[in-house]
Amino acid sequence: MTQGSTKTAIVTGAASGIGLSTAKALRAAGYRVFGTSRKSVPAAGGGISMLVCDVTEDASVTEMVETVFGETGHIDLLVNNAGFGISGPAEETSIAQAQAMFDVNLFGVIRTTRAVLPLMRAQKGGRIINVSSVQGFIPAPYMALYGASKHAVEGYSESLDHEVRSQGIRIVLVEPAFTRTAFDRNLVRSDTPLDVYETERAGRNRFLADVMMTADAPEVVAKVIVSAATTATPKRRYTAGSKARQVSLLRRFVPASAFDKAFRREMRLPPIA
Ligand SMILES: NC(=O)c1ccc[n+]([C@@H]2O[C@H](COP(=O)([O-])OP(=O)(O)OC[C@H]3O[C@@H](n4cnc5c(N)ncnc54)[C@H](OP(=O)(O)O)[C@@H]3O)[C@@H](O)[C@H]2O)c1
Repeated sequence: MTQGSTKTAIVTGAASGIGLSTAKALRAAGYRVFGTSRKSVPAAGGGISMLVCDVTEDASVTEMVETVFGETGHIDLLVNNAGFGISGPAEETSIAQAQAMFDVNLFGVIRTTRAVLPLMRAQKGGRIINVSSVQGFIPAPYMALYGASKHAVEGYSESLDHEVRSQGIRIVLVEPAFTRTAFDRNLVRSDTPLDVYETERAGRNRFLADVMMTADAPEVVAKVIVSAATTATPKRRYTAGSKARQVSLLRRFVPASAFDKAFRREMRLPPIA
């Protein structure tokens, strides 16, 4: 490290929700924290600097990373948290709408990762934590494109981790279940509604409202991110919260047919074999 020994962390999407809680928790753990938002927002307080960055734009990502490196001389941790979901039946989502979401949830992760990897390699170490979801390893009916983007983040992260581990860099996944943030309010509705899904749509909205009422607080996820960032030898993936841990265990150890039945029941889908 060239300018000071305090570790430097970047957290994308740090103006709200999991990103904001993570920025605060990392700051409390001793990191110098740079959060990002697409909008110009005042510093989050408590020593967290906020930078403008749209992860869908190469130049914006490059500029943000250069600013952080210019100020600190090292980047020890990148938390790829920025993301949003599309709510609605898969068939109702146009290709353009799906691509716009992948541009944030997957290509945003790839852009920031490609921007920091050369710096981390030169300093012989670094860690990248990608905020995935339980929907990165289980199905996500009526949020299929979102689930697909998180499955893609999982595949990218686990593969990249094998490529850069010998350079002292680790890529780690954090997988929350539903979390009490603005995520549900920021969900984008699928853009080509079809009459055939009218009944399901009302049921899905009710389901989402219900699960959000008992969802984990964002601090639960932030705590897991801090331990994934600070442990000497991280695991490849961490569930965040008891619900996510339970789902992960069921997915791994329950036979597929039994998981399928239980999953449909939990998602309030009709019991069709
Ligand atoms: N809440 C949940 O139930 C849940 C569960 C599992 C996983 N997750 C994941 O957790 C992450 C954080 O979500 P959250 O729950 O904290 O929701 P949130 O409060 O809506 O935060 C999402 C953040 O993403 C940022 N963002 C969206 N598009 C962006 C873009 N093009 N460029 C840069 N930033 C962008 C937003 O930043 P600005 O608007 O300030 O630019 C916002 O701060 C997401 O990746 C989400 O998929 C959430």
